[in-house]
Amino acid sequence: MGQSTYQSVVLAKRPTSLIVPGETFTMKEHEIVKAEDLKDGEVLVDTLYLSVDPAMRGWLNDTRSYVPPLKIGETMRGAVIAKVVVSKSSKFSAGDYVTCYTGWREQAVAKEKDLMPLEVPANGQLTDALGALGTTGLTAYFGIINIGKVKAGDFVVVSGAAGATGSVVCQIAKLKGAKVLGLVGSDDKVEWLKELGCDRALNYKDPNFPTQFKEATKDLIDVFFDNVGGEILELALSRAKAHSRFVMCGSISQYNSANPTGPKNISMIIVMRIRMEGFIVYDYANEFPAARKELAQWLSEGNLQRKETIIKGGLGAAEKALLALYEGLNTGKLLVEVKAVNASAGLRL
Ligand SMILES: NC(=O)c1ccc[n+]([C@@H]2O[C@H](COP(=O)([O-])OP(=O)(O)OC[C@H]3O[C@@H](n4cnc5c(N)ncnc54)[C@H](OP(=O)(O)O)[C@@H]3O)[C@@H](O)[C@H]2O)c1
Repeated sequence: MGQSTYQSVVLAKRPTSLIVPGETFTMKEHEIVKAEDLKDGEVLVDTLYLSVDPAMRGWLNDTRSYVPPLKIGETMRGAVIAKVVVSKSSKFSAGDYVTCYTGWREQAVAKEKDLMPLEVPANGQLTDALGALGTTGLTAYFGIINIGKVKAGDFVVVSGAAGATGSVVCQIAKLKGAKVLGLVGSDDKVEWLKELGCDRALNYKDPNFPTQFKEATKDLIDVFFDNVGGEILELALSRAKAHSRFVMCGSISQYNSANPTGPKNISMIIVMRIRMEGFIVYDYANEFPAARKELAQWLSEGNLQRKETIIKGGLGAAEKALLALYEGLNTGKLLVEVKAVNASAGLRL
């Protein structure tokens, strides 16, 4: 007999700092959708992988942001890789792989207009659609090119440099002829950044980091790509060159804080005439196809390397995976495997 229900993860209680496993989210059961329940233009998909993103913590707060807060009882939103199992669409067939924003659920009904066909380029793999060729790869691309306006000879400093976004930023900056310093939270990550071609990488957890950072930035910073905010942003401001560009991509160090803090030396923006600019990748949605094509080209030529950290254990592992992101467990893109496509390496939390 086939399965009669599937599960989703819904918001149960808004956290005040870190999410609390077993309290912030709860599992909800749903009846399996039958083929005859689908309307024209709809498909039924099985979720294979969830994208786990730092911004998810912000969606749980009842505050004004670039998307409305998740409601209590609502299924956790997020990008996924899924497989079409039943189709009433002329554009998709059973067996097709797609990406969509159906969130933390094992199955979903989606409209064809909300699905993106998944193409695996030469040298690529299915999961790149959520990493190097997905939102984080695109964030790196538009952040460093459009906001950072990186050019040959620039000295670029990247925080969160071994993450999904940061690792792609470092490599694009190198492709554009910049000198790159990456900031990361472990010695293993320092080594990986060197393999990626970074000129230098520093572990910000080293007790001597402030001194090392000062020495490593003696030529002063042209472009700072910030994924973490907090004390690292303050240090970067103290080493900014006149007319430098600060790409404000994220501030993960503050996402779980009940009392977020900002840099004390914000007046450096004035005295060094810094252009500090935030952005949300979806502002560039019309340009995604062209950017994805260029990223895929770099990937197929071997000019773009990537890693991913896959958490196994199905939907139930998603909340712990989200917590692990703030502990720096991942190198490269963090994903949760909901349903195995084939035997892939992964971690159990
Ligand atoms: N603006 C946009 O449109 C946009 C889109 C996507 C992502 N983002 C932002 O980009 C940043 C990176 O996102 P991602 O998806 O690529 O995640 P990620 O970098 O793959 O993962 C997060 C990494 O952040 C580091 N980290 C965690 N807590 C930290 C802390 N307190 N201080 C310093 N580093 C810390 C950890 O690495 P370490 O081991 O090195 O600490 C962790 O691996 C996030 O801030 C995210 O919000 C922005």
